[in-house]
Amino acid sequence: MDGDELTDTESSGTNYSNLDDISLSEINRRLREENLRGELDRKRLEREIARLQDLVLELSHENKRLKHELKQFKSPPQLVGQVVDLLDSGDVIVKNGAGQTFLVSVSPKLEGEELAVGSRISMDRNNLTIMRTLPASKDPVIGAAEIIEKPTITFDDIGGLDVQITEIREMVELPLSKPHLFKEVGITPPKGVLLVGVPGTGKTLIAKAVAQKTNATFIRLVGSELVQKFIGEGGRLVRELFQMAREKAPAIIFIDEIDAIGAKRMSMDTTGDREVQRTLMQLLAEMDGFNPLENISIIAATNRLDIIDEALLRPGRFDRIVEIPMPDHTGVKKILEIHTRNMHLDDVSLGVVSEKLSETTGAHIAAVCREAGMFAIRNERGHVVQEDFTKAIDKLVNQKSTYDERMYH
Ligand SMILES: Nc1ncnc2c1ncn2[C@@H]1O[C@H](COP(=O)(O)OP(=O)(O)OP(=O)(O)O)[C@@H](O)[C@H]1O
Ligand SMILES: [Mg+2]
Repeated sequence: MDGDELTDTESSGTNYSNLDDISLSEINRRLREENLRGELDRKRLEREIARLQDLVLELSHENKRLKHELKQFKSPPQLVGQVVDLLDSGDVIVKNGAGQTFLVSVSPKLEGEELAVGSRISMDRNNLTIMRTLPASKDPVIGAAEIIEKPTITFDDIGGLDVQITEIREMVELPLSKPHLFKEVGITPPKGVLLVGVPGTGKTLIAKAVAQKTNATFIRLVGSELVQKFIGEGGRLVRELFQMAREKAPAIIFIDEIDAIGAKRMSMDTTGDREVQRTLMQLLAEMDGFNPLENISIIAATNRLDIIDEALLRPGRFDRIVEIPMPDHTGVKKILEIHTRNMHLDDVSLGVVSEKLSETTGAHIAAVCREAGMFAIRNERGHVVQEDFTKAIDKLVNQKSTYDERMYH
């Protein structure tokens, strides 16, 4: 019994240990499984965390952007003006774009910043408190006037107009290249040349070719742009333009479409009109103020001589007026040759074409050549034939009569 019991005990002991073995390995397995699952969970969570972190970052960027946008929406437009005088009391006298002066205070935000007479500032719309100082004023000039490095147009690209070109070059380039001759002879060179002619006769073209040939800095300004873009700043702009020319002398200033600012001073009805007047007056003052031997020449162009203010035309300002005429017969032929230079022509008599193009401007001739090319392309031909020109002239001459009436003669 005892033995049995013992055996029993033993066997049960063995059983127990067996059981233990099983449960241990089972526990072990389960633990391992759990471990594995935990590991997988951890990795998943880590990924989730990384994703959320990315999201947080993204959202904080978005938040920043929206805050910025909101701020922009909230901040009302401000007025731009100029400091006229600084008073001991800390107040400031400013002038706004329309030329009115105000006594205003300075926002506490600007504490410590230097305000100087002449600096540009922005003001609150309601109480005109100075809110910010703006960067010095050279930048609008760069926006309005372009310094033309070297245009690609050369005198070879201009047909006819030889007499006019020689005259213009003499007037513009001689004072810049040989100022000593003028001193020796004892005369002052002409200050400005005004090119006059119907639209499309090559005025802008000539100015560009002068720019290409000259070693002087060539500054181009378009009158209409000046008026449109910089209402309230035209006068200052003209002043700065001449300042810039002086700094970069020898320089040629080219004012295209000068009629936009140089029209006769008639009744002044709107602020816009008054503003144009101010710009013109500043231009007159600048032209009087500079010495032609300062190495600055001015070329201007217009197709409305009839509305130009006489003050601009009096001696000492634009003392020379060069008329750019409609091309004559040889002129037409030359312009035609220039514009067909790069075209693939097949058996086209330019003589015949030019016969039909008398009384047309260079711009018209260029358009006819382009149109003839278009006819060839429409017919899927790689070259232009006489008939293309005939069609093009028909099409454009018919159109021409309608806008001829608007032209100035
Ligand atoms: N004499 C010319 N020789 C060659 N091409 C010319 C000539 N005249 C005009 N053109 C052509 O006509 C186009 C317009 O000329 P341009 O811009 O010089 O006219 P514009 O006289 O300044 O006219 P607008 O008074 O309207 O400003 C030129 O780009 C050129 O293709
Ligand atoms: Mg022009």
